[in-house]
Amino acid sequence: MNLVLGVSGSVAAYRSADLARELMRAGFVVRVCLTDAAEKFVTQALFEALTGQPCLTSAFDEPVAGRMAHIDWARSADVILVAPATANTLNKLAAGIADDMLTTLVLASEAPLVIAPAMNPHMYGSEVTRNSLDELRARAASIVEPLEGDVACGEQGQGKLASISAIVDAVREITARSAKLAGKTVLITSGPTREPLDSVRFLSNRSSGKMGSALARAVMLMGGQATLVCGPGSARPPLGAQVVRVETALDMLEAARGLAQRADLIVGAAAVADYRPEQSAHGKIRRSSEPIELRLVPNPDVIAELGKVAKPGVRIVGFAAEPDSALDAARQKIVRKGLFAIAVNNVSRPDAGFDVDSNELSLLFADGRTARSGLQSKLSCALWLLEQIVDSP
Ligand code: C5P
Repeated sequence: MNLVLGVSGSVAAYRSADLARELMRAGFVVRVCLTDAAEKFVTQALFEALTGQPCLTSAFDEPVAGRMAHIDWARSADVILVAPATANTLNKLAAGIADDMLTTLVLASEAPLVIAPAMNPHMYGSEVTRNSLDELRARAASIVEPLEGDVACGEQGQGKLASISAIVDAVREITARSAKLAGKTVLITSGPTREPLDSVRFLSNRSSGKMGSALARAVMLMGGQATLVCGPGSARPPLGAQVVRVETALDMLEAARGLAQRADLIVGAAAVADYRPEQSAHGKIRRSSEPIELRLVPNPDVIAELGKVAKPGVRIVGFAAEPDSALDAARQKIVRKGLFAIAVNNVSRPDAGFDVDSNELSLLFADGRTARSGLQSKLSCALWLLEQIVDSP
């Protein structure tokens, strides 16, 4: 889920750095926009390093050439958070003034808005600011009230930026589709495995791990703890997920088996190599004019093995890459692997399945029910899938 964090020029801007990290831990992709005054306290470089995303400062910034950032960011934001919001920025937002990048993109966006004010208590208590807050609330913005206490200018009163956890909670509340995984641990296998032929060569597949990372992010957005056991080269896991990196199918099984006993839900999104070379040569197999024979032996079925060690009643969900015309093959896997359900990637579509950002799932349940996600981003598919599983009787 995409979050734009607008930082305006209060001393409390220094806390936005921690706030950005906490939001990332909660599953959000965070992009920061600074006002001119915020840049007196914090820098673009700080936020770019923390978030791994571009940080906007001027109204004419254009990180992707030819795409106006205020429109691009406004459209793609699932939520906009302004924290800290100064009196100036807050009053401008209420009046619809758009004279810098932050106010412009808020005005251009239909995303829900969360505002965490921080300012001098007199400024906060002034009639103008009160009216602006009422106006913003009337437009469904969520206001995270500042706290009472000592403010940087030496006065006492209501004006201190709310706690980071209160701000994160407000964002969660406004974006949450559900908190249905609160307190739950979800184990996800993800990405490809590599099966060595010798010290420098391996057999593998084209899995990117993007679906597994999207599932981990979705778990966190639904309030749960994500544990990812992922193969090499897979997509960057979200901050906040527990990550165990593995190489081969046997490594994946060993790592996941240890974690499965603590999981409340298990999802097998990894593309585990079905076979491995019976022997892996030490060093490098030398070139010769003779053909060489490769004997492959079957790998264990990781997800089926996890079913044997999982807590009783834990739901196990597999993935299968099949064309939509071959759902029977997926149905057989439900039985063979002891699954609660299987999510079938429609590999006959170029915009779904391996190594792309979108997906389309058919979800087949052991009890015969089926559901379809439609073509969506991998994150939306992941949220949809987890809700289907949690909501099932
Ligand atoms: O049999 P197939 O490979 O199509 O099954 C796919 C599902 O089984 C996926 O959930 C995948 O993660 C899991 N799997 C596994 N271990 C294997 C093969 C597949 O966990 N060796």
